[in-house]
Amino acid sequence: MNGPNLNLLGKREPAVYGNLSFEAYLTELKKQYPTCEISYFQSNVEGELINKLHETGFEYDGIVLNAGAYTHTSAALFDAIQAIDAPVIEVHISNVHARETFRHVSRISAACKGVILGFGLDSYRLAMDAFEPQQHLS
Ligand code: DQA
Repeated sequence: MNGPNLNLLGKREPAVYGNLSFEAYLTELKKQYPTCEISYFQSNVEGELINKLHETGFEYDGIVLNAGAYTHTSAALFDAIQAIDAPVIEVHISNVHARETFRHVSRISAACKGVILGFGLDSYRLAMDAFEPQQHLS
């Protein structure tokens, strides 16, 4: 699930977020998890993200969430994550701690199972791998 401005991936600040659209990335990601049913939702609207968490959060096994800038502001998203059964992994493409100070605070991390950030789009695969490891190291 992607939040605000992440529909512009591939066009938006490519030095920070890369040149690939999320749709192109998702096609490749799905190939790596052929046994998982992966669905995708993006919205620029906070309430729509909350509605989608409510809709999927009692049904799906896990949610990978990049809440974009709402990460840093939204108590309502924190409450929604707390309210649902599905574990949520917070992801960020960039290393938010190496950027502006307003990005150093996450209002949602404490409600999440874990946080993965700073690995570019690979952050999403690492989150998927936390839910569904493709290789077990003994
Ligand atoms: C982001 C980091 C946020 O601070 C920013 O507002 C975004 C993207 C990331 O993936 O690096 O929109 O969540």
